[in-house]
Amino acid sequence: SIPKLYEAFHGCFDIGAAVNPRTIAQSGDLIANHYNSLTAENEMKFERLHPWENSYTFEAADKIVDYAREHGKKLRGHTLVWHNQAPDWLFQDGEGGPVSGETLLARLKLHVDTVVRRYQGDIYAWDVVNEAIADEGPELLRSSPWLDIAGPGFIAKAFEFAHEADPKALLFYNDYNESHPQKRDKIYELLKSLLSQGVPVHGIGLQAHWNLFDPGLDEIRAAIEKYASLGLVLHLTEMDLSLFRFDDVRADLTAPPEELLELQARKYEAVFNLLREYKDVIDSVTFWGAADDYTWLDNFPVRGRKNWPLLFDENHQPKRSFWRVVDGR
Ligand code: G3I
Repeated sequence: SIPKLYEAFHGCFDIGAAVNPRTIAQSGDLIANHYNSLTAENEMKFERLHPWENSYTFEAADKIVDYAREHGKKLRGHTLVWHNQAPDWLFQDGEGGPVSGETLLARLKLHVDTVVRRYQGDIYAWDVVNEAIADEGPELLRSSPWLDIAGPGFIAKAFEFAHEADPKALLFYNDYNESHPQKRDKIYELLKSLLSQGVPVHGIGLQAHWNLFDPGLDEIRAAIEKYASLGLVLHLTEMDLSLFRFDDVRADLTAPPEELLELQARKYEAVFNLLREYKDVIDSVTFWGAADDYTWLDNFPVRGRKNWPLLFDENHQPKRSFWRVVDGR
């Protein structure tokens, strides 16, 4: 018989999946059986919840909240502040020019108040700010309308607004390339400075969009140790293990090569053995999808390039990666 994935990690950390209306419809049983935490893949992003200034669209998000309630799943909220999937109106004044920083922050406060209060008691942790740090170069923060219009203070403000709206929610800074040394050090620097200003931030989300080659286990370990040294909780928020390097576009593959599935199983096993070592600081590990029949990586970096990055195959059967992860100690 097949053990439940999350039960294999009982006493270590929650095991989550990103879900959307399509995967709830086509993989509802799998999700209910194997994951005890859920994240809405897209449905709680700014443009989805708040497409026009005076109108909110909560239907799709509410359905995910209802599903989580019915099945007794924890819920992470994703995400309040991001440069992607943010509507144009947010950054514009009535004439199509840029808004003032003051207006942008006032709009942010209204959005955060409305959304965070609505899901108070259902969502226990929010990715408050997503991907604000520059991947390369000397700059700490990446250029975005948030930074360009409101200045770097938008980050602290977002956390303050979220904390006012729901003082019990755990508030996270979430980013990718989080184990690359240069970006890791920038994330550390940002969080250290937020903490020293007394900003209510409680955790770091390591997205963990990894592949068979990068990052190495030593880099993952170094990132966990460095972040944990800040005294923050760590969540792995968007995990997947791509079979391919970022620039390897094998659009011709229709089935995963056996040797790559074996390499994937080995890496998943090693990664989870490492994560178990840090169970005192890692409280949650969420996969960015439930099974290989639907993953954002099938459309990234090019549309239609298949990938098989998760623990369950396209027929919702456990892959060898699943067994290594569950059996590893
Ligand atoms: O819903 C429309 C559909 O109507 C349309 O026909 C189709 C054609 O373009 O697009 C559909 O929307 C797509 C949406 O996913 C739903 O599938 C968007 O184009 C596409 O951009 C969007 O991608 C999402 C991406 O964030 C946006 O940046 C992915 O699903 C989602 O997995 C991904 O998630 C992000 C995290 O939020 C943050 N970290 C990185 C992670 C992966 O990129």
